[in-house]
Amino acid sequence: MYLLKRARDLQQVLQTLRQEGKSVGFIPTMGALHPGHLSLVDRAKQENQFTVCSIFVNPTQFNDPKDLDLYPRTPGKDIRMLASVGAHLVFMPPPGEIYPPGLDTQLDVSFGLLDNVMEGEFRPGHFQGVAQVVKRFLDLIRPDALYLGQKDFQQVAILRHLVHQLHLPVRIVMCPTLRETDGLAMSSRNVRLSPELRKKASILFETLTATKDMLEDFHPEEIEHFAMGRLSIPGFKPEYFEIVDGNTLQPVDDASQTNFIVACTAIWAGNVRLIDNMIWKSPE
Ligand code: PAJ
Repeated sequence: MYLLKRARDLQQVLQTLRQEGKSVGFIPTMGALHPGHLSLVDRAKQENQFTVCSIFVNPTQFNDPKDLDLYPRTPGKDIRMLASVGAHLVFMPPPGEIYPPGLDTQLDVSFGLLDNVMEGEFRPGHFQGVAQVVKRFLDLIRPDALYLGQKDFQQVAILRHLVHQLHLPVRIVMCPTLRETDGLAMSSRNVRLSPELRKKASILFETLTATKDMLEDFHPEEIEHFAMGRLSIPGFKPEYFEIVDGNTLQPVDDASQTNFIVACTAIWAGNVRLIDNMIWKSPE
């Protein structure tokens, strides 16, 4: 497994691969890896001849500097985990390689309504930062396919829009959310939960599951209201529970007239912010 820090070295390796006609799958991460991340590597390995995984805690997507400071960093363990699943190349750049002085990496892409709702509303500037860093990685790596987790459903929608708007020649593959046995979506932030809050954190998955069947008899707004109440247990403060069209991310009004429905939620568990979602109705 290659372990590279410099963009120049990365591009050299990739140039050789491209000359050999090898397909490249790319998995961007911020490290503190868990089996959810590794499932993306696995999928990329199945579909490509070469897999590149980046580990970079991107400062431009953190709207809260405290969250950036507290973000877990476990580089040694990450590298061992990636080696164990057979990733071919790990790119761990210092910030200066991604944002070199003199290179304008700001994007001129509007995400319109996709960026105004849910995470976009509660984390202003977050998706501009995500798009900025992913575009930079795509420019450097030029992969055939980009592997993203459904766990961050809105992020996938934003990046699909980016790829579409800029006509980038990359296929986006959305992979299912890996969960702990009690249903909690695996996340790098879970390690920050106190044992007591960790035990109760399955409430997100339980609520997403329990409210799904209400769609037949209740208006989405009624379900949202009910779910917000269900999530308001001691120690937890829900930020939103929204039932949206999976393409536009706009609220669903008439569920029978919408063929792609996703329930998305964000909640504070103590000082840890957790997100989750479930596809309730899928076009496929
Ligand atoms: P990070 O939170 O490290 O996540 C990296 C990738 O792993 C994302 O595509 C995310 O959706 C996926 N992922 C996280 N938890 C998962 C789970 N339980 N099951 C399946 N996939 C999961 O998302 C980011 O980093 C950043 O925003 C990034 C795209 C790297 C840009 O900086």
